[in-house]
Amino acid sequence: MQNSKWWQTGVIYQIYPRSYYDTNGDGIGDLRGITEKLDYLAWLGVDGVWISPFFVSLMEDFGYDVVDYCDVDPIFGTLEDFDRLIEKANSLDLKIILDLVPNHTSHEHPWFKESRSSRDNPKRDWYIWRDAKPNGDPPNNWRNMTTGTKDGSAWEWDETTEQYYLASFAAIQPDLNWRNPDVQTAINDVIRFWLERGASGFRIDMIDFLAKDPQFRDEETSSDPKHDYVANAKYHINQPETKAYVRAMKEILMDFPNALTIGEVGYHLSSQQLRDWSVGVLDIAFNFKLIHSPFEAVAIRSMVDDYDATIDTDGQPSYVIGNHDMPRPIKYGERQARLAAMLVLTLRGTPFIYYGDEIGMENVDVPLERRQDPHVVYETGKTRDECRTPMQWNSEDFAGFSSVEPWLPIGEHYSAINVEAAQNDPYSLLMLHRALIQLRKESHALQSGDYKPMDGTPSDCFAFYRTAGNQKVLVVLNFSGEKQSVDLSLADQNFEIKVSTQLNRKGQLESVTELQPYEGIVAVQIG
Ligand code: BGC
Repeated sequence: MQNSKWWQTGVIYQIYPRSYYDTNGDGIGDLRGITEKLDYLAWLGVDGVWISPFFVSLMEDFGYDVVDYCDVDPIFGTLEDFDRLIEKANSLDLKIILDLVPNHTSHEHPWFKESRSSRDNPKRDWYIWRDAKPNGDPPNNWRNMTTGTKDGSAWEWDETTEQYYLASFAAIQPDLNWRNPDVQTAINDVIRFWLERGASGFRIDMIDFLAKDPQFRDEETSSDPKHDYVANAKYHINQPETKAYVRAMKEILMDFPNALTIGEVGYHLSSQQLRDWSVGVLDIAFNFKLIHSPFEAVAIRSMVDDYDATIDTDGQPSYVIGNHDMPRPIKYGERQARLAAMLVLTLRGTPFIYYGDEIGMENVDVPLERRQDPHVVYETGKTRDECRTPMQWNSEDFAGFSSVEPWLPIGEHYSAINVEAAQNDPYSLLMLHRALIQLRKESHALQSGDYKPMDGTPSDCFAFYRTAGNQKVLVVLNFSGEKQSVDLSLADQNFEIKVSTQLNRKGQLESVTELQPYEGIVAVQIG
């Protein structure tokens, strides 16, 4: 598409670097491993690769607790390895997106060590320190987000200086004070550092937390056990200043025309709030609505209708079905995962693919003694380890990920579910991803065309058109475990099936089309 930025038409793939490919035999993935596998990603056809944090870290939250923003953790390699990664990515026309964690650092970051050393240290105000209430209680009722301690206070007591510091996530992740301009400058310098080294932008972690209420007012409480703290928070998050901080970050990006900002702005936001983040602030605000929607045609259609119309053409929509914090979409079933892939890769907006979802990697039941993630997902008692297990490359030992036992166990069915097997099977989920990505590349309508839902389909089906100029694509998806007949006579044009979820169907679309359980088709107008 002419005049579009790569991320407006492209597909972005997320890598959790600990689990992608281990080249130095320590059971943990590394940057060289990613570099070696870029050919695979180019073959798959993605345009951008977002890599979760690989900066120096204590690994208490596996990279989301940064100790040095401008260096590579030795577990992952060196800055030279990063340079080689960029070189190879450039040669394949792949963009590399980094993961910026601006809300908090590790408690072992030199800034925090200084800050906590005394009340009059020049870096004291780089973090958020408050006195205890007269009875010794924390300054307010704000909670931390590490759901293992869901009812826990966001304030941590510091014995040495006898004040509380704010840690909105785990206690080991003290919040930076974004109201201090020196903090803003320091993080903006980090942004420039990596852009100058060849990064093409940032996924920005927990961006809605940056500014806090200057009066530190209490949040409303509720006796309802289902009360959602984040969704109802008025003071702890989402303060108007945050958008100004992001605009200042964007100024730096102006010097780097290919670079983009993708913000993690919360799962609970309305379409209007997502629009407010994506128009004139971020380039893309993650839309997690698919992850949280029931896997049903009516619910998904109404979400898409509302979101697409609200974002409109001023902002860039996005769709996510998996990431390093959420159970993998295969939880719905293999056929359903195919349908989900077709949906995400054909809607209007930037699609995100989480590593391993393209081959249908399973959520691994990690035994208690091998757990790594300190963060227990409250409702299920599980951790996020289940979706972070090593990439399954082939059926050899340790799934071809490493030469030694990896940091997390390999999925039980790796000898069948792996990249090599999927590349040798023309009907695999991986080949479906590739076919959909290829079709997208060839189709202006899929890359950037309008979205228009089709009415009159059975209630378990969701059908929509994507149109650009005289190109028209029709997508029909059956979200039920039953066969469905869809009357397409109203479509009023001839369409040819280009891709079906089982990759076993081609040819002209009939006016009454029967879809198999959880089958989807993408058809292109031929006349
Ligand atoms: C990341 C998590 C991380 C948390 C704290 C989230 O947005 O996706 O993996 O634990 O932020 O940095």
